[in-house]
Amino acid sequence: MSTSTTPTTANLLRQQKREQRRQLSSSQQIQHAKRLAERLLNHNAFNHSQRIAAYLANDGEIDPVYIIEQAWNLGKQIYLPVLSAHENSLLFAPYEKDSLLCRNQFGIDEPDCLPEHWLKAEHMDLILLPLVAFDEKGNRMGMGGGFYDRSLANIRRPQQLTQLIGLAHEIQKTDQMVIQSWDIPLHVIATEDRLYQI
Ligand SMILES: Nc1ncnc2c1ncn2[C@@H]1O[C@H](COP(=O)(O)OP(=O)(O)OP(=O)(O)O)[C@@H](O)[C@H]1O
Ligand SMILES: [Mg+2]
Repeated sequence: MSTSTTPTTANLLRQQKREQRRQLSSSQQIQHAKRLAERLLNHNAFNHSQRIAAYLANDGEIDPVYIIEQAWNLGKQIYLPVLSAHENSLLFAPYEKDSLLCRNQFGIDEPDCLPEHWLKAEHMDLILLPLVAFDEKGNRMGMGGGFYDRSLANIRRPQQLTQLIGLAHEIQKTDQMVIQSWDIPLHVIATEDRLYQI
């Protein structure tokens, strides 16, 4: 952690890491996604979870698609983040093989279902989070909207059991992380190469 780091430095790091992951070829992306899935499918947090929030990969993010498919095969429920305009944060909508999707204001697909089916983060057993950069202490940098941070604010409570696992390409690791009071640290970070247990 660098306490003297300015927001500009954070933005620069965000830009660099986004650029690096976008430059991965599609065959590297597939290989990373498969290796990530092998690693995660053997993890207790996955095996013990029934309600799992994931995401649809965007902007070079490592793709959880193989994890999602295996979760469906095992009869687990998958959820995807939906933007709750009202709270300016994320809720989680059920996602099934035949779910219809619709585009949100950021051009990201979401399950096209009624808000009454949306659940809060604390009702998930496991949340798989995309990220732009991470460090070995479990600190996470996202796309800069604060959406995950606001949605996970309740998960800081000690009685909360929701597991938070960040998914990333190894190239997203940094020792230059800028940490803010509202950032929610992760329990585990999984990459194509290894697991960081925090
Ligand atoms: N719990 C919170 N309550 C109110 N505002 C928050 C909260 N968490 C984050 N924010 C706001 O969101 C903004 C962006 O936060 P940050 O730079 O940490 O985003 P990020 O972690 O990269 O994005 P994301 O959480 O969407 O992945 C901050 O400027 C902060 O003011
Ligand atoms: Mg943050």
